[in-house]
Amino acid sequence: MFATLAEQPADKILQLMGQYRADPRADKIDLGVGVYKNAEGVTPIMRAVKAAEKRWWETETTKSYTGLAGEPDYRDAMAGLVLGDAVAADRIASVATPGGTGAVRQALEMVKMAAPDVTVWVSDPTWPNHLSILRHLGLKTRMYRYFDAGTRGLDTAGMMEDLAGMQPGDVVLVHGCCHNPTGANPTAAEWDALAALIEAKGALPMIDLAYQGFGDGLEADAGPTRMICARLPEALIAASCSKNFGIYRERTGILFSIADGAKARDLAQGTMAHLNRQNFSFPPDHGARLVSVILGDPALRADWEAELEDVRTGMIALREALAAELRQLTNSDRFDFLARHRGMFSRIGATPEQVAKMREDHAIYMVGDSRMNIAGLNARTIPVLARAIVAAGV
Ligand code: LMR
Repeated sequence: MFATLAEQPADKILQLMGQYRADPRADKIDLGVGVYKNAEGVTPIMRAVKAAEKRWWETETTKSYTGLAGEPDYRDAMAGLVLGDAVAADRIASVATPGGTGAVRQALEMVKMAAPDVTVWVSDPTWPNHLSILRHLGLKTRMYRYFDAGTRGLDTAGMMEDLAGMQPGDVVLVHGCCHNPTGANPTAAEWDALAALIEAKGALPMIDLAYQGFGDGLEADAGPTRMICARLPEALIAASCSKNFGIYRERTGILFSIADGAKARDLAQGTMAHLNRQNFSFPPDHGARLVSVILGDPALRADWEAELEDVRTGMIALREALAAELRQLTNSDRFDFLARHRGMFSRIGATPEQVAKMREDHAIYMVGDSRMNIAGLNARTIPVLARAIVAAGV
């Protein structure tokens, strides 16, 4: 039976992970998959996560099923973290999901149930798995311009011009902060203009919030999401705890549906729980439990926030050091965008051939579209990368 299956295209990020692992060179540099690494190249377990795990191990009394939507205290704590007090509680439906990807998938499934012919607008470029999930679900997709290859900043005019073509009921997928793969993000004024356009067009915003706390801080990074949800009648948010809690393999995420009132909220809540049941039944709870223990305990929360802030400022320091190194090497400011970008990634604007050359000549691994994970760098590798960028002719 299965001999008839078509081969599926490889995910380029995961493919690169495999290539990196297979490379025997000792001095290889991994700037590929979006996983935080400290200066020693280790993805550490955060202090608060370790403490919460111990506490939970001591107090956990059952491994029986959680609710279909996940535990209420996790969902409430995450609503606080993501939405603050921007949205009335009776407008918020939520379900725990296996990671942020699970939330993206559930969100788009709900969109498809409600409006199978809908068009979903995605930024060009976007996280490749967005496109893959959209294709898998058979949803119509259109791209909007996002990245200015010249400045390596946002193509504001192109984005607004393309999105002016949205029809009522279309969905627009945006990255709430720390755009993946480019690292270029709208300013507050640009977010306002974008929200006004979405509102005027009667479209539905879907926000992927995978890096809250990695850009300008926990509160600042949630700002655009809160503004959009306060302003518009409906929104979807797929949030992830993989990066900001460093619990990647625990698969901890949440889908929020913001409705225009309690009745619509209840309908969304029922649909989302139903979708959980169809797709995996009960969501995983261990990571969600750690998150709610941390967010519910002032001391643990303060320690988590402090460690996350160190991670964030460490990445900004790496950005600034790389930009400075390149300024010196090239005697120009053309790589200064690196210091302006936010989050884990920057698209440096190299061609696929230049990316391949850096991999072949210097064992530097970045995604073929020249997205690099800033957290993969350290004081030793910054000059190596800078020289390789210049040698490749970027
Ligand atoms: C990434 O973009 O590298 C991360 O979100 C990991 C993934 O699943 O692709």
